[in-house]
Order: sequence, then structure tokens, then C-alpha cells
Amino acid sequence: MVYGEKPQTHHIDMNTPSVARMYDALLGGVTNYAVDRDACNQLLSIAPSTQLLARNNRAFLGRVVRYLVKEKGVHQFLDHGSGLPSLENVHEVAQDLNENCRVAYVDNDPMVHAFGKTILDENDNTMVIDADMRDSSKIFQAAEGFFDWEKPIGALFVSVLHCLADTNDDQDPGAMIKRVASKLPPGSFLVICQLVSDKATVRTKVTELMDEATGGQWGRVREPDEVRAYFDGLTIVNPPGLVDVVDWMPDTPPPPPEHRATDWIEWGGVARV
Ligand SMILES: C[S@@+](CC[C@H](N)C(=O)[O-])C[C@H]1O[C@@H](n2cnc3c(N)ncnc32)[C@H](O)[C@@H]1O
Repeated sequence: MVYGEKPQTHHIDMNTPSVARMYDALLGGVTNYAVDRDACNQLLSIAPSTQLLARNNRAFLGRVVRYLVKEKGVHQFLDHGSGLPSLENVHEVAQDLNENCRVAYVDNDPMVHAFGKTILDENDNTMVIDADMRDSSKIFQAAEGFFDWEKPIGALFVSVLHCLADTNDDQDPGAMIKRVASKLPPGSFLVICQLVSDKATVRTKVTELMDEATGGQWGRVREPDEVRAYFDGLTIVNPPGLVDVVDWMPDTPPPPPEHRATDWIEWGGVARV
């Protein structure tokens, strides 16, 4: 599919939980089914602070987009694993600051595709790419006529890398990040965060639960040092460096302990290519 073509929506499986619909349920959205909510309840029994974690992550996404538009003059975004439309979608945050900002959303969930098309149909500065985020050649081909390749792009990988397994080949999350970084224009940025936990039981139990519930559409809860390795060769924006995302340039005082996720956190930061 290239920019300008109308994509078709493929089959939505209402009997198997999807990460996109579960995340929507955790954020308090209504674009989800009973199977997704049941899976969320199982997840909450292992990691009770997950709703807080989802909301804190979504707030980080908004902050980081505002930062890139206002402080770094980035007016183009490639959002990998964009999720279902929710509060403060990337194009809304960016276009609120500059109406010419362009956003290409990438996701492989058919529901994201269907809702994305519906709400974005009349916004010429947005597009939805139905692709596995590891399929960089499909994504870059689809976005070829959409972006100005002389200008910086913000490539977002926000709360998505835990959906990808380690494969030690070109499908590995680390290999994907390197490939995307190498294709971006000079002055571009990468935003990367994923679920980490220092509790081995949480890492194992959540990974098992999500892998089984989603029929294998899941990778791994990792440790901070594994996420740090995804930034190798990139220049990390420091301060704040790589942190729990609630501490990444908070625009209000950072949340006290009772308003932080405790079982697992979203950990990462921003880097210049
Ligand atoms: C937790 S949501 C994150 C949504 C959004 N980035 C945010 O932070 O608010 C993860 C999203 O990644 C998508 N996703 C998971 N694996 C994917 C893959 N291999 N290719 C494309 N999208 C994927 C899911 O469908 C889901 O919409």
C-alpha cells in the first residue's frame, strides 16, 4: 500500500485478546471486548498497578511529542505500534502546536486500522499504515510520498518493544531500531520505551500470561539494561537520560510513590540519530 491508496480492513478476532484493545481497556476506553477486559483482570491480579502504568505512559507520549515539536522543530512523526485512537493522539498533540505536522501511524491490529481510518480520513496530514512494525521496507515505501525526507522525523516506539520477541536476526527489536535509525534523515529522533521490571516473577508471569492470551502476539518484559542496549550508537537526550517515563521531563512535579506503578514500569527515553 502506498500513500494515497485506500487500505482494506482485515478480520477482527473478537475471541482472542489483542494488546491494542487491552491497552484501550486499561486507559478506560470503550473500543474493546469482554475477552480483552478478562485478560486485563488477569494481568491486574499479577501487576495491580498496570492501569496507572498505562495512563502514565500515555502522558509521556504527549510530553515527548510536545518536546520534539517545540524544542527540536520536529514536524513529522512515524508512530510504530500507535494503538487505538485515545486521548491526546500524536497528530492532535503535534498539530495543536503546528497544524502542518504530519503523522504516519503504523500498527498491525485490524481494529486500530479500522478506527484510525475513520477518525483520520479527513486529515490530510495523517496516514495509517497497516504493517508489522518490523517490516521497515513496507513502512518506508508506504510513507515515501508522505514525508519530506530532507527534514527530521520523530520515530516513536512507545510501549511497543515488549510485544516483540528476541530473534537474533533482522526481526529482532534491536535490529529493527538500527534499521529505522539508518533510514531517517539527519537530525531525526527516536523515542523508545518498553515494559521493564526488576521482579523476576512479574517478568515471567506477565510474559507467560500475555503470550498465551494473545496467541503469541507478545515478546518479553525486559530489564533496563536490555532496553539501554537499543540506544547503542545513538545520542541520548541527557538530562533526563533513560528513566522511568514518569520522570522524563515531567511538566508537573513527578508523581509521589502512591501514584507510580510498582510492579513494572515503562522505561526509556529519547535519542538523536
Ligand atoms: C501498548 S500499545 C501502545 C500504543 C501507543 N504507542 C501508546 O504508547 O499509547 C501497543 C501497540 O503496538 C501494536 N503492536 C504490537 N505488535 C506490533 C507489531 N509487530 N507491529 C505493529 N504494531 C504492533 C499493538 O497492536 C498496540 O496497538
